[in-house]
This record gives sequence, C-alpha cells and structure tokens, in this order.
Amino acid sequence: MRTEEGGRVEQPAVLTTTGAELAARYRRVRAFSEELSRPLAVEDYVIQSMPDASPTKWHLAHTSWFFETFVLALLDRRGEDEPPAWAAVVELGLHHEQQHQELLLTDIKHAFHANPLRPAYVTHSSPLTPSPLPRGERGWLSYPAALREIGHDGPGFAFDNESPRHHVFVAAFRLASRPVTNREWLAFMADGGYSRAPLWLSDGWKTVAAQGWHPTRDGSSRACASRATPSSCPPLPRG
Ligand SMILES: [Fe+2]
Repeated sequence: MRTEEGGRVEQPAVLTTTGAELAARYRRVRAFSEELSRPLAVEDYVIQSMPDASPTKWHLAHTSWFFETFVLALLDRRGEDEPPAWAAVVELGLHHEQQHQELLLTDIKHAFHANPLRPAYVTHSSPLTPSPLPRGERGWLSYPAALREIGHDGPGFAFDNESPRHHVFVAAFRLASRPVTNREWLAFMADGGYSRAPLWLSDGWKTVAAQGWHPTRDGSSRACASRATPSSCPPLPRG
C-alpha cells in the first residue's frame, strides 16, 4: 500500500504486531501530538507564517482525518476485507502522524521567529521540559572509509526511499560525540559558517547568492535577517 507521502507497509510486519501493542503505540503517538500543542496559545494554532507552513490546527486535523477516513472506513467494512489490513493502515497512520509532529514543530518555530513579540515555545514553566544540555567536551569519533550496506531490509515499516538495501562506498568521516549546542551553533555563525560555499549544497548556495541571504544575529536584529547587505549586519557574538 502506498500513501501521499510514498510510504509502504509490508504485511509481514503487521502480522508480527499484536493488537494490544498497536493500540498502545497508537495512544502514545496521538498523545504526543497533544503534548506538542499544549505550550501554544489558542491564537498560535491558526497562524500560517509562510505559504510552505501549515497551522498547528491543520496538522492536528489532518492526522486525525487519516484515521477517520482510512481506519474507520476499513472497520466499517469488516467482513469484506481480510484482517489485518486495518492494522497495516493504523501502522501507516502512526508514521504519518510522526512526520507531521516534526512538521508541526518546524512550522511553529518559523511562526515564532516571525513574531515581533519573540514568544518562546518552551520555557522552564512549560509542560514540555527542554532536553538536558549535552554535557562535557565534544569529542570526535572517527570512521574509516569502507564499503557499507545501507537501506531497509526486513519485515518492519519502511518508506519507499529507504529501500532496497544496497552497498555504497563511504569515505572516511568523523562524527561529534554529542549533539551540537546553541552556543556552538552561534560560534559557527560568528565564524562565517553560513557564508562559505563549501558548507552548502550547490542548490542552496545558488539560492543564497540569488536572494542575498545573510544570517540573522538574533530575534532583535531583524534588519539583518534574510536580505540585508553584509555591511549592514552587526557582527555576531562569539562564544
Ligand atoms: Fe500528510
């Protein structure tokens, strides 16, 4: 089965999932959408800050629509469809909703960035608490060049672009030992990281050059956002 996002569910995966497990996961995933929405004010639910973004209320309605339209419709026709077809669709709906949870956060982040009142999505009094800060010095893990296997290969859920499993040659690389911090990201910006062509994909750099993008220092220096000239931008703080 394929969906609007190109997802695919393989029947064997569904057969290994019990109804109770699926129901528990369904409740967990759906509850997380509500948890993500909880820090927002009512007005935040309806904001669409650019054409590519969707309001929070749309994400919530759209993911609910999936279950109502595809799962309830299937259940209504039980007897015509062989079980466990409905379970496969629930599985797909959960992955679909998790995609939209990422989108919801991306979209509200853009909406808040565009808000002159500079609202914060998460504060210390929010029901959602920020993840603990990465601690300790950042180290680097080295991986030698090698022929490796990538791609989905098994009975579980996978999207089209995750298969088939195949060999690729991966050049030697290093990976940071922990997630990057905001301070480190700011240092990267202050160091001119956004202004170096080798750190962009070619299409991205083309857009940067065509539209004159420059990094925003922070929410209070909006004159420097997006299309100002470099000389009009105050220097970014270091550290
Ligand atoms: Fe969708």
